[in-house]
Amino acid sequence: MSTKDLLNKEKMPKHIAVIMDGNGRWAKQQGKLRTFGHQSGVTAVKDVTEGAAELGVEVLTLYAFSTENWNRPKFEIDALMSLLVQTISKETETLMKNNIRLATIGDTDSLPTGVKEKLEKAIAKTSVNTRMTLVLALSYSSRWEITKAVREIANEVKEGKLDIDAITENTISSHLTTSAWPDPELMIRTSGETRISNYLLWQLAYAELYFTTKLWPDFRKEDLYEAIYNYQNRERRFGMISEQVK
Ligand code: FPP
Repeated sequence: MSTKDLLNKEKMPKHIAVIMDGNGRWAKQQGKLRTFGHQSGVTAVKDVTEGAAELGVEVLTLYAFSTENWNRPKFEIDALMSLLVQTISKETETLMKNNIRLATIGDTDSLPTGVKEKLEKAIAKTSVNTRMTLVLALSYSSRWEITKAVREIANEVKEGKLDIDAITENTISSHLTTSAWPDPELMIRTSGETRISNYLLWQLAYAELYFTTKLWPDFRKEDLYEAIYNYQNRERRFGMISEQVK
């Protein structure tokens, strides 16, 4: 029996965020280059995307490249960028067939022109799709995003378009790059690291965090089901007491 059969369809998270970690260690364990780990990570991306869509998840956000990842050796950055281009070219049709929309969050202007163009094309082509949105966080960091939001809000105040007293949590949420989607209810990180690493800091305020020691290239649908099963069996209290949420 699969853990999938144990999942409660009524309690499916609408938005799942993932930190895909451990590609480098996975490759090293096999005596291969780190870039081989990233290539193998694409299989996991495909399997988990398909699995999430089948479950009726509305938004799946994958941390594919952080602002801090620009500090990696040039060889690895170049390999990751060409892997992105190749994967987008190869998989846009799969996204179309599965009615999945592609979106990005992050400072995509800092990506190489070729990557940006491929992404823009795929985003435009898949924009008609409605089953699930696959969001790639690229050149993304939460502090970058929050700083950008603060600047935009301050500018609106300066121009007299917004009253300081009218600033609410919603004002901030609506200036984040994720404003089109609900906050993630579940965040999964692979590879045994138990950090958030500058990922969706505002949006994860009430998310359940799930950490697994599996390395990303080994992560599959079945592992996704286990994470969701674990999430569904937690009590989410949002600061209230147990009796109030029952
Ligand atoms: C973290 O592992 C992973 C990344 C920085 C990149 C993730 C990219 C992919 C899975 C492939 C491309 C993705 C798409 C969406 C086409 P790490 O390198 O930090 O591993 P380590 O912690 O073991 O060194």
